[in-house]
Amino acid sequence: MGAKWVFATKNPHKLAEVQNLLEGILDIEGLPSDVPEAPEPHADLYGNALAKATFYAQHLGLPVIAEDSGLFVPALGGQPGVQSAHFGGPARLLEAMRDLSDRRAYFTAVVVAYISSRKYFFSTGFWQGEIAETPRGSEGFGYDPVFIPAGRKETVAELGQAWKQHHSHRSRAFRKLVKMLQGISPQE
Ligand code: IMP
Repeated sequence: MGAKWVFATKNPHKLAEVQNLLEGILDIEGLPSDVPEAPEPHADLYGNALAKATFYAQHLGLPVIAEDSGLFVPALGGQPGVQSAHFGGPARLLEAMRDLSDRRAYFTAVVVAYISSRKYFFSTGFWQGEIAETPRGSEGFGYDPVFIPAGRKETVAELGQAWKQHHSHRSRAFRKLVKMLQGISPQE
C-alpha cells in the first residue's frame, strides 16, 4: 500500500470518513493528540489547507495530507464559507436563511498532499445541493443535518455515512488526489 501519510485534522469525523474512504488504498493516520493547533490565517481554503499541511509537516517531519472545507451559500454572499467551523452551525444558518427562497448551497473541500515546500499536490471536490427548512437525521457532523444533495430529498444526516462516502466533496477530492499520487514517493 506504500508509505504512511498523516492526515492533519483534529476533527474525528473527518478522520473516520477519510480512513474509510482510503482503506486499502492509502495508509492514513491521525495527528498525535499533543500537537498544537495549526494556524488558518487565510481568507481562502487553498491558503489554509497549505498552511495546515506546512505547519504539521514541519512539526512532525512527516509527509502530511491536510484539508480545508466549507459550506457556501450564494444567497448569503458565500457565507459561512471559509469560516464554516466558526459560524455557529446549522441553527445560525437556518436563522440567517429564514426568509430566503434561494436555498442553493455547495460544499467545497481543498486537499493538499505535502511532502516538501517544492513537492506538494492540490485537489478539490465540490458537492452541490440546497439547505433544508429544518434539521433532519442523526448521522455525520457539522451541516450534514441541513444539506440536501442535488437530486435527493433527504439530508446527508438522513442518507448516512456509507452513502456520503461515495458522494461528498471530501470523497471527490480524495479520489482525485489518490490518482495524482500514483507513482509519487512521499520522499523529497
Ligand atoms: P475546517 O476544519 O476549518 O475545514 O472546517 C470545516 C467546517 O465546514 C466544519 O467544521 C463544518 O462546519 C463544515 N463542513 C465541512 N465539511 C462538512 C461535511 O462533510 N459535512 C458537514 N459540514 C461540513
